[in-house]
Amino acid sequence: MNPYFCSDFYFRIYKMNKLTVLSGIRPTGYLHLGNYFGAVRSFVKMQSDYNCFFFIADIHSLTTHPTPENLQSGVKQVLAEYLACGIDPEKATIFIQSDVPEVSELYAFLNMNAYLGELERTTSFKEKARQQPDNVNAGLLTYPVLMAADILIHKANFVPVGKDQEQNLEMARKFATRFNYMYNTEVFPLPKPYTFDGKDMIKVPGLDGSGKMGKSEGNAINLYEDPKEIRKKVMRAVTDSGPTEPNQQKTEPVENLFTLMKIVSTADTVAHFDELYNKCEIRYGDLKKQLAEDIIAFTAPIRERIIDILQDDSYLAKVARMGAEKARESASKTLNEVKEVIGFRRFF
Ligand code: TRP
Repeated sequence: MNPYFCSDFYFRIYKMNKLTVLSGIRPTGYLHLGNYFGAVRSFVKMQSDYNCFFFIADIHSLTTHPTPENLQSGVKQVLAEYLACGIDPEKATIFIQSDVPEVSELYAFLNMNAYLGELERTTSFKEKARQQPDNVNAGLLTYPVLMAADILIHKANFVPVGKDQEQNLEMARKFATRFNYMYNTEVFPLPKPYTFDGKDMIKVPGLDGSGKMGKSEGNAINLYEDPKEIRKKVMRAVTDSGPTEPNQQKTEPVENLFTLMKIVSTADTVAHFDELYNKCEIRYGDLKKQLAEDIIAFTAPIRERIIDILQDDSYLAKVARMGAEKARESASKTLNEVKEVIGFRRFF
């Protein structure tokens, strides 16, 4: 059989039988260990089993008015980081939101069925409005509508996102249901949150003693972080005054350091420090030094790959072009169906 015919044809059939996964990230900072173990590592696994779309939500990031330079470097950074983490542009569709104008078109249509009251009641809107009272723009209000457009345009079945995005996903389901009902169609399948199974589910704690690692909490270690900076950050991590009796229960800040250690260090290392802790002989300085070195050993190869990829503009451009092409093909298919349903098809 003609191998060219074979590959393209069967690739399509093969893709058709797979469920679609989609997730996006705003280009507003570096990926950190929490992003990696909480999400990106699972994306890498999912790309073989699902028809995956991973994109950079650059239009969403405009709500906070970045300068053109910041926007450009942010997009480039996330793209390089996705690739450095192992997302494969041959397996998954990696694209930049603004490269797919169909999304903005669907956003305009969906806005007609999104109501002021429900948008104003969204938790993230209320939070942002409080944080930036001088910039409560319409894009902020309709953020969930654009996000729904992102998801629905590719008819995603699963959206792997964190807890903070659950309400936005709920809104996407609501807009999809409303549209389907209004036009008596089933163009939009209802997107479900994707929760990773127990083994994949790692909550990475921050270095500030409580809670999880987050971009805006200032407690994160970035994948792109310089080893010197990692050592500094880890040495500054919150601890306590040390155990006073054998086998004492650990306080949250100390438990967090052990959790980080379980993620990046060997089981022997963890057991070693656990034993010292239980014998009240632990020196947190030693634990931190070891933890810092193990984090560096883990992030260093990723950091090197990020640096290499950032220098290769032609590769980045090729990936973005390929992704945009695949994403537009999928998006325009849905958009045509939507337009037909709405009544934009002309009979004259
Ligand atoms: N709102 C998401 C965040 O801030 C990013 C995002 C935009 C997204 N569109 C999406 C996530 C679609 C999943 C699906 O993290």
